[in-house]
Amino acid sequence: MARRRILVTGATDGIGLALVRRLASRHDVVATGRRDIAAAQRLLPEGVLYIKADQSRPVEAAKAVGRGLLEIGWRELDFAVLNAGTGWAGSPQDEAAKSVRETVDVNLAGTGALAHIMFSFLRPASGQLTLIGSVARSGSSQFATYAASKAGLYGLSRALGQEWRGKVRVQLLDPGPTMTDMHEKAGLKTGWTRQWFIRPDDMAAMIEAAIRAGTTPKTLSFLQYVSGASIFGRTIR
Ligand SMILES: NC(=O)c1ccc[n+]([C@@H]2O[C@H](COP(=O)([O-])OP(=O)(O)OC[C@H]3O[C@@H](n4cnc5c(N)ncnc54)[C@H](OP(=O)(O)O)[C@@H]3O)[C@@H](O)[C@H]2O)c1
Repeated sequence: MARRRILVTGATDGIGLALVRRLASRHDVVATGRRDIAAAQRLLPEGVLYIKADQSRPVEAAKAVGRGLLEIGWRELDFAVLNAGTGWAGSPQDEAAKSVRETVDVNLAGTGALAHIMFSFLRPASGQLTLIGSVARSGSSQFATYAASKAGLYGLSRALGQEWRGKVRVQLLDPGPTMTDMHEKAGLKTGWTRQWFIRPDDMAAMIEAAIRAGTTPKTLSFLQYVSGASIFGRTIR
């Protein structure tokens, strides 16, 4: 099995961190996040390289990742998983403009700017860009701006997929509710429903299998989780 070069954004918590921990022993991984390098290194497995890039400043973050990859001598990548995300939960009319701006910047503008930079790093013909969307993209109460940002990623994945056909593969994965701190960070109390959420390690396994399969768009939620061996156990090779 070949060691692949893989970049994962939003790798300091939740699904991104679980994915990096899953991949690190078999592949060469670069993680990105908004935390300082010392804080990130306490979380990440040994050997995983880290680039600080705060996506609330989309252009600067994309440049920082491009620069960081060149500094560590990575001119080519096999996979880029753009996973970083944030959100605010509550009635849309109560959401502050600052919060709308941050969610759109991190989830859509930040991911979009990074996707553009990734084009020149992903290996021609075999490189694959994976955007982590959400089942919320079709509209979700309490998560209006978040849902809109994820709907934007759907459009982005389709447009890039057409533009880059034959050059870089583009994939959108839409996770369902997962047992991370994202909801708490967004101000949402999940209550008893949380017991039905997918564990981050299991979501990471589903994401790896889906990356290997390359299908787009692909929902990764509780139904797929309980129904299928086919979404587990396939590893990036
Ligand atoms: N959990 C779910 O139920 C669920 C469902 C569908 C889709 N998703 C999607 O899955 C992805 C991962 O979410 P998660 O549940 O793992 O959430 P999480 O535990 O909060 O992790 C999100 C990651 O994104 C990072 N991030 C947040 N703001 C950032 C910024 N300004 N710049 C750079 N990185 C930033 C976080 O950094 P910090 O560690 O510093 O906070 C963290 O590393 C997101 O795109 C989310 O929308 C999650």
